[in-house]
This record gives sequence, C-alpha cells and structure tokens, in this order.
Amino acid sequence: MAKLHIITVPDPLLKTKSVAVELVDDDIRKLLDDMLETMYGAPGVGLAGVQVGVPKRLLVIHTARDDESKSPIALINPEILECSEDMRLHEEGCLSIPEVYAEVERPASCRVSYVDRDGKPQEMFCEDMLSTVVQHEIDHLNGVLFIDHLSKLKRDMIIKKYLKAQKGETVD
Ligand code: NI
Repeated sequence: MAKLHIITVPDPLLKTKSVAVELVDDDIRKLLDDMLETMYGAPGVGLAGVQVGVPKRLLVIHTARDDESKSPIALINPEILECSEDMRLHEEGCLSIPEVYAEVERPASCRVSYVDRDGKPQEMFCEDMLSTVVQHEIDHLNGVLFIDHLSKLKRDMIIKKYLKAQKGETVD
C-alpha cells in the first residue's frame, strides 16, 4: 500500500463530478487500499477518490475505529436511495479543507446502494455518524464540499480565513 497526496481547496478538481467505475479490477482494489492507508495516515474517517486526484465514483469510510465490530468499508458507485426526515447536526471537517470545522445538518439516516470491492451490488442502512460521513463523501463525488451546505456569508468567511491561514498570515 502507498500513501497518496490529498488535494485541498481551492483545487478545481474538488468541484468536478466524478465518473462511474465501469469495472472493479485489481487497479481499483489497489486504489481503495491506498486510499484507506492515506485516510488512516491523515487521519480521517472518510476519503473520496477525487480527494487523491482520481475523479472516479469510489470512497472509503471507517468510523469508530476503536470499536472492533466496525470494519472499513469501500463503496463503489454509491447512491443514496432514501433519507430520513429526521436531521442530525454534526461538526464536520474535511481532509481537503484542513483545520476548518463547521456544523452541518443532514438526514439522520439513509439507505445507500453501492458495489463492493468484489464487484457485488450491496445495500447498506446508515445512521448517526455513518449517515453523516457517507453523505459527506458522496457529496465529494458530485463536486460538493461540506462548506457548500453553509450560508454564502458563512462559507465566504470560512474560505477567506482558510486561505489566509494557508499563506501563514495571522487570522483575526
Ligand atoms: Ni471531505
């Protein structure tokens, strides 16, 4: 496995829509393994292909790593089938926008279809933290960042602050 470079805002690739994976082969499985290692190294709980510069519809997630009953999952061509009306608020961050955190409201649970690393179609019910993370990661495949869920005013403020911090200037 190899650690990959994670691209960050304002890289325009983060705004592009990723393309479907046509065939789950060894190259795809290697990419998923590398993405997992990259995610663990960051560290993070989710990572989409586009974040390592590969705009294909695939992602890895591992929430609650201290809980041994939860293992990492790889989702290829994931799609949200339905969402709950209940919402949940979570302070999100993103490996592509380092050091930035903001509360985002998303459906508290959702059902997702995807293809697994063996090329088999699967369905998964997600709730709590997993619901938030899976929606955040699927957003990446559509060129959407968590800050896009905030008001324009708040988003502009956050981006300005972030870009200043990246340049090493004092943030006020
Ligand atoms: Ni993210």
